[in-house]
Amino acid sequence: VSDAVKVGVLGVGYWGPNLVRNFVEHEGAEVAYVCDRDQAALDRVTRRFPWLRTTTAYDLVLGDNEVDAIAIATPVSTHGFLARNALRAGKHVLVEKPLAASAAEALDLLELARRRDLVLMPGHTFLYSPPVNLVREYIASGELGEIFFISTSRVNLGLHQPDVSVAWDLAPHDFSILRYWLAERPTTVNAISRCCIIPSVPDIAFVNLGFPSGTIAHVELSWLAPSKLRRTTVVGSRKMVVYDDTSTEPVRLFDSGAALRDPQSFGEYRMTYRTGSIISPRVEPLEPLLMEVGDFVQSVRTGCAPRSNAELGLDVVLTIEAVERSLAAGGGPVDVERPSTSLLSGRSR
Ligand SMILES: NC(=O)c1ccc[n+]([C@@H]2O[C@H](COP(=O)([O-])OP(=O)(O)OC[C@H]3O[C@@H](n4cnc5c(N)ncnc54)[C@H](O)[C@@H]3O)[C@@H](O)[C@H]2O)c1
Repeated sequence: VSDAVKVGVLGVGYWGPNLVRNFVEHEGAEVAYVCDRDQAALDRVTRRFPWLRTTTAYDLVLGDNEVDAIAIATPVSTHGFLARNALRAGKHVLVEKPLAASAAEALDLLELARRRDLVLMPGHTFLYSPPVNLVREYIASGELGEIFFISTSRVNLGLHQPDVSVAWDLAPHDFSILRYWLAERPTTVNAISRCCIIPSVPDIAFVNLGFPSGTIAHVELSWLAPSKLRRTTVVGSRKMVVYDDTSTEPVRLFDSGAALRDPQSFGEYRMTYRTGSIISPRVEPLEPLLMEVGDFVQSVRTGCAPRSNAELGLDVVLTIEAVERSLAAGGGPVDVERPSTSLLSGRSR
């Protein structure tokens, strides 16, 4: 009898097949079912993995006692409903980002998972990306000094989503990375956006975030851009970093900075600028999704919270909701709601 974690994958459109492939590759997991309500999507998976069992009936997957866990890669609007039913059926859940389509729904899932002692993990893939983890080490070790600001661009042409705004689609990546790097929640948000192509679906958004430590961040999100950019600049009091996910040198550490010298003794400010070495460290070419799947399997087995945990997923959803409130308020600053502490003080899983 194999002790592999038996997983049912729900939704194999664009992203789901990547989950299937990584669960197939992971030695600790076994794909028990692949489920999609679209037979053509299942047929595409079958061509690649002919031995996998497929079905269009998700209740068949949830009702199978052999299945330990469900991985959900369906549209955002269905995450809450499908994850809730999976948890109610006693299954551990990995749900693609964002955790749910509202904070109320996300809280409901957190509560249910805690009550049932089940893993609820949002798929914030970038928390498993080697360059992201290298930058996190630079920040955590103090190498960059105080973090003044972070500026990030996540833009390309497409893919326009009919059911969610660009913020719900792309911001989970940057908000989860910022939350992970800075180890603090943003407190204020202001944002502007525009619906350029589909009426009432914002396809560009410019978001500003303020953090308790004083760090500020700017996040540019767009489905409408001439070329693909995945570029983040972190500017600290000691050093600066450029993280470019599309580059062969994804992390570049700049020993650069500016300082003010002896302002009192000269009666005027004297600036000094430092432009030192630029280091481009070797970064392991590991596939983040395989690491993510591995963390989920480990969490199911041991009960330890995964790195991409449900509380972080809830923070991301709360931040996107603050973006929406700011947009509704004409771009003015709004506070990011804090999650209820009674819920978050329990077990970490
Ligand atoms: N982590 C990442 O980097 C990343 C990248 C892309 C997408 N995603 C996430 O993956 C999810 C899916 O996105 P996508 O682009 O693959 O969407 P998609 O529309 O291409 O695929 C969704 C699939 O779900 C199926 N489906 C819908 N409702 C279902 C149901 N009730 N039961 C079974 N199947 C159902 C659809 O038939 C479709 O095949 C989204 O949450 C998205 O945010 C994550």
